[in-house]
Amino acid sequence: MILAIETSCDEVSLALVDSNFKVHKNLIFSSLEKAKKTGGVVPEIAAREASKMIIKVLNEIKNDLIWDKIKAIAVTNNPGLVGSLMVGIEAAKTLAMIFNKPLIPVFHIFGHMSSIFLDKPKSEIQFPILVLTASGGHNDLYIWKSPLDYECIGKTIDDASGECFDKCARMLDLGYPGGPVLSKKAEKGNSLAFDFPRPMKNQNILNFSFSGLKTSLLYKIKDLGGIKSISENIVSDLSASIEFAICDALLSKLFLAQKKTGIKNLAITGGVSANKLLRKMFLEKTEKLNLNAFLSKKLEYCTDNGAMIGSAAELIWQNTKEKEFDFEKISVF
Ligand code: KG4
Ligand code: ZN
Repeated sequence: MILAIETSCDEVSLALVDSNFKVHKNLIFSSLEKAKKTGGVVPEIAAREASKMIIKVLNEIKNDLIWDKIKAIAVTNNPGLVGSLMVGIEAAKTLAMIFNKPLIPVFHIFGHMSSIFLDKPKSEIQFPILVLTASGGHNDLYIWKSPLDYECIGKTIDDASGECFDKCARMLDLGYPGGPVLSKKAEKGNSLAFDFPRPMKNQNILNFSFSGLKTSLLYKIKDLGGIKSISENIVSDLSASIEFAICDALLSKLFLAQKKTGIKNLAITGGVSANKLLRKMFLEKTEKLNLNAFLSKKLEYCTDNGAMIGSAAELIWQNTKEKEFDFEKISVF
């Protein structure tokens, strides 16, 4: 078993994942209620909340921590909010020192990628995989060649898609976090009601851009007389059209990369991969093109969680001969 800790943003999550990638525990505590009040994550507040939540999560998981069954401790060490990351890293170091366990640092984005292994037979997943990781903080395309060898081939030149969901939801007065609330509102709307741009869609490059889409919504709201004068139905139509534009922009680059590389295994990970429309469009298109599609089995493995860090650490463990990880050197990058 690996005990994994993830505290890169406004969640504190501890998980137990075994060597078959089966999740035994995945506790997720969040300071979401604070972020809702401030309309987004405030780093200082998130760090303070993380230092309170880590004690609560440890208290809840402590009876499941059978130390002679835990072979290592894993922790996210970058990228993320420095204050929040430090809470997880210091807790992980302390436990590793007291219980004499190796400590495995995990790159957060590799954690998201590794979420596709959770609760599935390992043989189900074949390399190479073309992976899109789409979240609030990043929006990248990777060629994942073998368990520990992955190369970034495209990224956003401005906002990430999750950030675009969050900002558009705020403009539409829908609250936070934007992805789930905008998606809910979109259920009753017409995705073809408004024709939002897909920046860079027709360019033969693998980078993304979402700031133009956000600006376009801003002007549309102004044209319609401001958010206070727009009816509920039109807000639903705007939400559905924005959601469709984001999904279309993401998938067009993923499938462009597929065409360029010829890779037949495709995955989408990260918070935005919890989006129902994106999952549906992705599965339809991969089926049509006879490609293999990988998504996290549960939606809780899409957004930040400890289990994905455990999964990444298990891949590191299985593919690293030297099992001594010098935890005194591990800090926030
Ligand atoms: O991976 P994550 O938890 O944190 C980062 O690493 O950034 O992703 C959070 C992002 C937020 O921007 C949130 O709005 C988005 O993922 N998200 C969604 C959905 N659920 C979360 N976006 C679209 N549809 C969803 N259902
Ligand atoms: Zn994340």
